[in-house]
Amino acid sequence: MTTAVCPGSFDPITLGHVDVVRRARSFVDEVVVGVARNSSKSALLPVEVRVALAREALADVDGVRVEPIPGLLADFVRDVGATAVVKGLRGGADFDAETPMALMNRHLTGVETVFVIGSTALAHIASSLVKDVARFGGQIDDLVPPGVARAVREALGVGPAGGGDV
Ligand code: PNS
Repeated sequence: MTTAVCPGSFDPITLGHVDVVRRARSFVDEVVVGVARNSSKSALLPVEVRVALAREALADVDGVRVEPIPGLLADFVRDVGATAVVKGLRGGADFDAETPMALMNRHLTGVETVFVIGSTALAHIASSLVKDVARFGGQIDDLVPPGVARAVREALGVGPAGGGDV
């Protein structure tokens, strides 16, 4: 059986993430979605909420499970018996950001990272932008799986799109 890890902050999971996980699942038997801490970002949602939202978003995808990553991604990959890390790229900026992490993970445990190009129709979606749009009263329901928009708005303390004051 072939297993890959799709890691990320998933703060929150977006339709872009779901697309990448589905693409990864098309070439491995099992995908473990690992919800990790990115020490260069400060998360809006607690990890257990991010895990719960990702589980809900991916519940209908066969051969996918979602787990928190307690420490190093490289150790997690080894612990779950995965062959590779799979990450999605939207463009060159993602490649530049991902390359040092891929090299470090290979240095640590020899794990390889495989990059997949996500759907161009979703290339404008990033968790950071989703939060920013929601923070200022914009519509995010068509950027994230069902249930996620509400969780984000609650965490931000903002109401539904269209109801904001200046
Ligand atoms: O969605 P992101 O924020 O781009 O994902 C980055 C993430 C969470 C995968 C990365 O920060 C990570 O692997 N964190 C776990 C701790 C770790 O292994 N750090 C060293 C990375 S080389």
